[in-house]
Amino acid sequence: MTVAQPPAAPTGFPVGNAPCVVRANRAVNDRYRHLVLEAPPPLCRATPGQFFHLLCPPFVDNEPYLRRPMSVYRVAPEEQAIEFLYNVVGAGTRSLARLVAGDTMSVMGPLGTGFTIEPAYRHILMVARGVGLATMAPVVPWACRRGIRVTAILSARSPQDLMEREFAQREDIRVHPVFDQDGTSAVGRVEALLRGILDADRPDAMFTCGSNRLMTLLQRLGTEYGVYGEIALEQQMACGLGVCLCCVRPIRVGGEIEHQRVCCEGPVFDLQQVAGTWRHG
Ligand SMILES: Cc1cc2nc3c(=O)[nH]c(=O)nc-3n(C[C@H](O)[C@H](O)[C@H](O)COP(=O)(O)OP(=O)(O)OC[C@H]3O[C@@H](n4cnc5c(N)ncnc54)[C@H](O)[C@@H]3O)c2cc1C
Ligand code: FES
Repeated sequence: MTVAQPPAAPTGFPVGNAPCVVRANRAVNDRYRHLVLEAPPPLCRATPGQFFHLLCPPFVDNEPYLRRPMSVYRVAPEEQAIEFLYNVVGAGTRSLARLVAGDTMSVMGPLGTGFTIEPAYRHILMVARGVGLATMAPVVPWACRRGIRVTAILSARSPQDLMEREFAQREDIRVHPVFDQDGTSAVGRVEALLRGILDADRPDAMFTCGSNRLMTLLQRLGTEYGVYGEIALEQQMACGLGVCLCCVRPIRVGGEIEHQRVCCEGPVFDLQQVAGTWRHG
């Protein structure tokens, strides 16, 4: 079956770079933290899937080099706030975890191309794994406020790691949690779940982030059911502005492979165009 044609890509907002004051930085669970920054108006604009490049502050025993890309979790221009959900994995995110209210950090963005969510959609399917939940969460209020129904499969190691409340943000959506701990996140089990949803209530589009295995599965089912899909890719970055080329990924365009920059042409790509995989499982 042919896959539905992608809608036109959204245009980005002008990029700003400014010091932002930390309003809050609290643990959500053992793995993830929620950072709220006070940001000047040019930065308080982003579409779901776009990201900011954060200059994580140096500490005596921890000096992260280069900025770190972080998807926007929420922007609230009326509160002059931008928010992030992040996993502490290395030097940069360890520095972020030490920030307290009143500290200042440099933030650049919004950057990249976000998800295309057509107002004509009636039902979308979201499949997120791990911190991919943070990247996809802003889609939920965006869709719900436009009357688009959301069904989500959220995959995590264990119930303690699942940020279901942070993902749903009080919106009325249908969530199917799956876990490594009880085997429900295994590809075969998720495929059965997806087929049930696709057969009973075919979505207009599918969105995913956070897992190569889920990407491959959704590419296969998207082709079989003829459902358009998008994926937000994660790639290590340096400049974040399209100059250094360290973030390129192979993308299929017109039967050829092009190496496109995740920071500029992405991080959101047409699901069927992404070739090859990255390190995540
Ligand atoms: C567009 C984009 C949006 C992102 N959004 C979020 C988000 O909302 N929340 C969140 O927690 N994380 C997000 N990430 C990932 C985040 O940028 C990295 O976890 C962070 O840069 C790690 O920095 P560090 O100094 O703590 O770890 P490092 O010491 O740099 O790395 C620790 C480990 O993580 C690996 N790693 C680092 N960066 C990446 C990456 N980009 N992709 C895959 N593996 C990586 C390293 O190879 C190493 O194994 C996003 C990445 C991209 C590209
Ligand atoms: S990070 Fe430099 S080109 Fe993408």
